Amino acid sequence: MRPSSIKLLNSAAGKRPVKVLFVCLGNICRSPAAEGVLRTIVEENGTEAGWKIDSAGTGNYHIGDLPDQRMRVHARRRGLELTHRCRQVVSSDFDDFDIIIGMDSQNIANLRYAAPTPEAEAKIMPMGELLPESSGYDYVPDPYYEGSEGFELVLDLLQEGCQRLYDIIEGHSNL
Ligand code: 4NP
Repeated sequence: MRPSSIKLLNSAAGKRPVKVLFVCLGNICRSPAAEGVLRTIVEENGTEAGWKIDSAGTGNYHIGDLPDQRMRVHARRRGLELTHRCRQVVSSDFDDFDIIIGMDSQNIANLRYAAPTPEAEAKIMPMGELLPESSGYDYVPDPYYEGSEGFELVLDLLQEGCQRLYDIIEGHSNL
């Protein structure tokens, strides 16, 4: 993990609630799924009071929509109900959240461009840094033009990455 991400996670670990925003392009596949995965982990551990979790997109194509039907079906099979309504990243997100996690390098580039200050930019980190090397991925691939296996892959990666994030912030895992 990059030193900048270690610093970010260490500083966020002391905050309650810790406020996490997941970001992808459309905010209908990867980031609402990440939001649902992390929220379920937090609820299963009875730690809801310590977390604020949301998601947003860098694009504006689907504002107000529920997550993609295919993502909702695949998530439901794992016991996750995705009810987020799509919204676009706004400048105030950089004040309202402690950690802003982008799913791929394009999301990260767009977030960096949108960050209003260096302090805001320091809140951005790639989801890929939370993925185990054994996954073979250092980003979460866009499933929009893929088949079922693309959605399953995204959920597998998010379950691993969100568990790692949870364990780091709750102090169960060292950086
Ligand atoms: P997401 O997937 O970024 O994971 O939500 C996409 C959803 C929609 C589009 C692209 C990616 N789109 O071009 O409409």
